[in-house]
Amino acid sequence: MLSYIIEGNNKIEGTVQASGSKNAALPIIATAILNQEPVTFYNIPDIEDTRTTLQILKILGCKVHTDSGKISISSKGMHNKTIPKELMHKLRSTVVLAGAILGRFKEATFSYPGGCNIGKRPIDLHLRAFKDLGVEIEEKEDYIHCRAKKEMIGTKIKLDFPSVGATENIILASVYCKGVTHIINAAKEPEIQDLAKCLNKMGAKVYGAGTSRISICGVKKLHKADYRIMTDRIETGTLLCAAAITNGTIKIENANPENLLSVLFKLKEMGCDILINKNSITLKAPKVLKSVDIETTPYPGFPTDMQPIIGAVLTKAEGTSVIKENIFENRFKYAFDLKKMGANIILKENENIIEIKGKSELNGEIVSSADLRGGAALVLAGLAASGTTKVENAEYILRGYENLEGKLKKLGANIKLEKVV
Ligand code: EPZ
Repeated sequence: MLSYIIEGNNKIEGTVQASGSKNAALPIIATAILNQEPVTFYNIPDIEDTRTTLQILKILGCKVHTDSGKISISSKGMHNKTIPKELMHKLRSTVVLAGAILGRFKEATFSYPGGCNIGKRPIDLHLRAFKDLGVEIEEKEDYIHCRAKKEMIGTKIKLDFPSVGATENIILASVYCKGVTHIINAAKEPEIQDLAKCLNKMGAKVYGAGTSRISICGVKKLHKADYRIMTDRIETGTLLCAAAITNGTIKIENANPENLLSVLFKLKEMGCDILINKNSITLKAPKVLKSVDIETTPYPGFPTDMQPIIGAVLTKAEGTSVIKENIFENRFKYAFDLKKMGANIILKENENIIEIKGKSELNGEIVSSADLRGGAALVLAGLAASGTTKVENAEYILRGYENLEGKLKKLGANIKLEKVV
C-alpha cells in the first residue's frame, strides 16, 4: 500500500506547471482506435488511468509507443473488439473505448464498468444513444454485445442529462456514421472541446463542442495527425487550492483560466488575490479565508471534481460554508477524515449537503483516500495541519495526479510517498 507522509504547516509558494488533462487524455487516446493511420499525442500525463487505457489498446491489437508524454499509436492491425472486463472494472472511463470500437468496427463487446466510490455511475445514457444509432445490444454473462447489423445512420440524440462520458461516446461512435448525428443537451466540458479539436485535426467533422448542441457529420476516413492535449484543469485547481489552504502564493505557468472560471470566482470570493494571463494563473492567499457556499453543476458551473478539494480549503475559512453536491451520490467520504483531523463538518446526507464551520485548526492524523479527489483533499488538509499526516491508499491519488509529490515538494511542502508492504 502506498501512503503520502506529510509534515504540515509549510506554505505552498512558487511556480509550477500542471500536467496534461487526465479527462481529455482518455477519450483522445480512444480516437486512435477510430483512426487507422498512425497518430501521436503530446502532453499525455503518466498516471495509472492513462497507463491502463494504453494497456487495453495493446490488448486490442494496437501498437503503442510511449516516450514520456509523447504517445504514438497505430491501430491498423487492431483485431480485438472486446474490452476485458477486469480492466473495465479497474477503470470505468474505458467505456469511451466502446464508442470508438463501435464507430470503427460497427460492433463492440464490453462489460458494465461498475460504480466506484463516488456513486452508481450507470451507462444507460450511453447504451440508449448506441441504440438510437441503430446498434443492437445484447447482454450475456457479464458482457454487453453491441452490433450494428446495417450501416450506422446519424440521428438526433437527446441526452436526459449532459453526461460527459455519454457525449464523448456518441461523438466517437458517430464519426463514420452516414449522415449527421445531433446531440441535444450535450455536456459542454472543455475536455469535450479538446476531443473535438483532436478529431477535426484528423479529418472528422465535429461542430458545436462546448455548447449543448453538437453535430457530427459522418466522414469516410481519418488521416494521420498529431495533437497536444489540454492542461489538466482539475490539477490546476488542486494546486491553486494547495496555496489557498496554506496561506501561500502560487503561479501555474501553463494553465488556461478560461477552463476554470467558476473555481477562480469562488477562490476570489474566499479572499484570494487572483491574477490571470492568457495561459497562467497566479493566486495569493489572504491571511484569513472567507467562507462561501458551493453548488456543483455541469460545466460551466462549479465542477464536481473540485468539490472535495475546495471542501478541504473551506475548513480553514472563517464562518460557515455549505456545499451541495448535485452530480454524484456519494462524494463526501473525505469529510469523515477531515473531521478526524479536527474539522467541524455536519453532513446532511439525505440532501447531499455538508456544512463546514471554520476556522478549524487541523491536526495531523492517519487518514485514508476513498477516491481520487477525496484523497487529494486529504493531502491538502495535511499540508495545512500541525504535525504529521499519513494519507493511506495513495494509489487512488496516483490515478489522476502526475508526480503530485514532486510538484508539492518543489513548492515547499514536506511530503513523501511511502510504500508500505
Ligand atoms: C466524467 O465522468 C469525469 N471522468 C469525472 O471525473 C467527472 O466527475 C464527470 O465527468 C462529471 O464532470 C472522466 O472524464 C474520465 P457523467 P463521467 O457521465 O463521464 C450520471 C475525476 O475525478 N449518468 O457526466 O462518468 C452519473 O451517474 C472523475 O476525474 C447516468 O445516470 O460523468 C453521474 O451522476 C470523477 N447515466 C452524472 O450522470 C449515464 O449513462 C454525471 O456523470 C451516464 C452518467
